[in-house]
Amino acid sequence: MQEAINVGLCGLGTVGSGVVKILENHKRDIVHQVGCPIEVKKILVNDVNKKRDEAVDSALLTSNVEELVEDPEIDVIVEVMGGIDGTYKVLEKALQNKKHIVTANKDMMAVYGAPLLQLANENQCDVRYEASVAGGIPIIRSLTDGLASDRINKIMGIVNGTTNYILTKMMDEGRTFEDVLEEAQRLGYAEADPSSDIDGIDAARKVSLLSTLAFSMPVDLSDVDVRGIRGMSYDDLAYAEQLGYTIKLLGIAARGEDKIEMSVQPTLVPHSHPLASIKDEYNAVYVYGDAVGETMFYGPGAGQLPTATAVVSDLMDVVKNIRLGVTGRSSVNPQYQKNLKELDEVFSKFFFRLEAEDEAGTFLAITSEFAAHDVSLDKIIQMPKGNDKTAEIVLVTHQASRAQIDDILKKLESLSVIRGIHSYYRVEGEEEQ
Ligand SMILES: NC(=O)c1ccc[n+]([C@@H]2O[C@H](COP(=O)([O-])OP(=O)(O)OC[C@H]3O[C@@H](n4cnc5c(N)ncnc54)[C@H](OP(=O)(O)O)[C@@H]3O)[C@@H](O)[C@H]2O)c1
Repeated sequence: MQEAINVGLCGLGTVGSGVVKILENHKRDIVHQVGCPIEVKKILVNDVNKKRDEAVDSALLTSNVEELVEDPEIDVIVEVMGGIDGTYKVLEKALQNKKHIVTANKDMMAVYGAPLLQLANENQCDVRYEASVAGGIPIIRSLTDGLASDRINKIMGIVNGTTNYILTKMMDEGRTFEDVLEEAQRLGYAEADPSSDIDGIDAARKVSLLSTLAFSMPVDLSDVDVRGIRGMSYDDLAYAEQLGYTIKLLGIAARGEDKIEMSVQPTLVPHSHPLASIKDEYNAVYVYGDAVGETMFYGPGAGQLPTATAVVSDLMDVVKNIRLGVTGRSSVNPQYQKNLKELDEVFSKFFFRLEAEDEAGTFLAITSEFAAHDVSLDKIIQMPKGNDKTAEIVLVTHQASRAQIDDILKKLESLSVIRGIHSYYRVEGEEEQ
């Protein structure tokens, strides 16, 4: 039997415990595939005295990171502890000491991915981060391996389980955003501070990671146009439903010629679109390739064992490379300079929900603003609202640029017949005729 490859595991929480379980439960198959045992030599935790699963040997625990990154017998650091700046420092030290990295940390990768990969190249080390996007779905490997020969033109996906859970419950049970968020926090689907999920930041980190790979362009979180679902009204979902759409928080990254666009925003998709049927905390990523056409990847976006599966598969990949003596050769620097589309180059259909005075001339005043900006309308609903001479008007435009839509919004805000602009969202996909 070949000598074992030793691992320093940073973190023994939800994902870390899953990693230990998979390494133990699937030991025989793993050894068969990689050709040697994989041993966890040290585990970094915050509190070594905390009560833990009995399956873990307490002699492995330490709160001293030096015992992992300075140990010459440790070959790979598996980082599943979270954190950004401090964690990057740990991984930087590990790479300088020629240790390979496997991480599930999208927060850190979205900020420090580029320098980390650069440092790995300089030290002939591997860095793998499959679990950082969509948990158990092997989307990174699909882009870098399975679809490597294709030219990816668009990625569109539900990459945040918490917001998909909230939108599903609001729609299916007719409940308010606040009510479902409170339930999600109670059930552990949402954090005590849910901002990163509901404001779209978590999804935007994943979109920036996927875009860097898919378009071979160095982009980061600040390049993504982000709008979350905080405070979304049930009425938006109900009107969308009436028009044949479901609202999802979609991460969208698309390439046109040599420029790309990236956004995270609530988006209407037709009921017939596969993304419309992704419910609860599940994730799905749609990839459009020049040659392959449309492909969709679906599965659990988080959770102990799905995420740990991605981490251990990455670890096995690194171990195979160590044994073959080919580490540090698989990461490719981005091929293109960053080139982002301007707002007048980003096109889609748009949904608007407005409140306006219910009197003659209102409709004409509103539709004239769209016509004045050369934007035509695809669908319109007008409903009287209560007895106070107010009407709710819901519109879906044909294709328009973000710049045109921003201008129309400004004009509508200043119209005397408008009492409020409740919402406006992007619309994707073609409806069935
Ligand atoms: N949970 C998921 O489903 C999921 C899915 C995809 C990606 N991820 C990512 O995986 C990572 C871990 O998530 P998790 O849910 O497993 O977290 P978690 O349950 O909170 O566990 C974190 C672990 O790391 C240890 N730790 C944290 N900060 C530390 C520090 N500064 N020094 C030493 N030890 C430290 C903790 O020690 P103690 O045990 O002593 O507190 C704990 O064992 C995060 O980056 C997360 O974004 C998680």
